[in-house]
Amino acid sequence: MAGSRGLIVAIDGPAGSGKSTTARLLARRLGYLHIDTGAMYRAMTLKVIRAGIDPHDHECVSRLAMETDIRLEPPENGVRVFLDGEDVSDEIRMLEVTARASLVSEIPYVREILVRAQQDMGREGGVVLEGRDIGTVVFPDADVKIYLDADLQTRALRRHREMISTGIEIRLETVEKDLGARDAYDSEREHSPLRKAPDAIITDTSDLTIDQQVDRVEALVKKLIESETDTNQ
Ligand code: DC
Repeated sequence: MAGSRGLIVAIDGPAGSGKSTTARLLARRLGYLHIDTGAMYRAMTLKVIRAGIDPHDHECVSRLAMETDIRLEPPENGVRVFLDGEDVSDEIRMLEVTARASLVSEIPYVREILVRAQQDMGREGGVVLEGRDIGTVVFPDADVKIYLDADLQTRALRRHREMISTGIEIRLETVEKDLGARDAYDSEREHSPLRKAPDAIITDTSDLTIDQQVDRVEALVKKLIESETDTNQ
């Protein structure tokens, strides 16, 4: 279902599988737009925290979501996320947001409005979307579906390194425990759980460097672009 601006590339997978980095670099190489859907759920979570609302209160969060504007600005220096007009790109990475994002992102109404926004942004193609439900719910007809995975230990190590480099002091064991719990929650929830689409290509990134990972996905996409060009000639 390639749009007028190019293909729709869907990348799903658990936290720490390398989705964000792969999606960002791949989008840059292809000249596509990178849509980080997790950042949108994080922005909604930040609003819930700021409003002092209990994320278990679905009705209250849904009402808040109704009057919330979340936008991703096309990146010059990486995607920026705007919550009601305010750039919250750094704040959404706080531990407190990460810890509550699973609770907010399981609320059906929150998913409904954010999925609609993602579909609006991606419909014309020329996009790399990353998340948990891109190939299954947001764009089940995406041209390329990739499911990135890696073992829990590797993912925890990567996430820990990332956090330490941004000045967050945390123990590796804590990161591993949190990641495992978040994966279980995201995979077992009722609405749009993290699931591999039946036609997704699985890549285990445990033993790959980021460059190898991006090369592999880029090769897949380029092969598809070439075959589409051939059939259109
Ligand atoms: O990818 P991330 O860690 O930034 O995602 C933040 C949270 O949002 C995570 O708990 C899973 C959830 N999420 C989701 O439910 N669906 C998506 N498409 C993307 C993220």
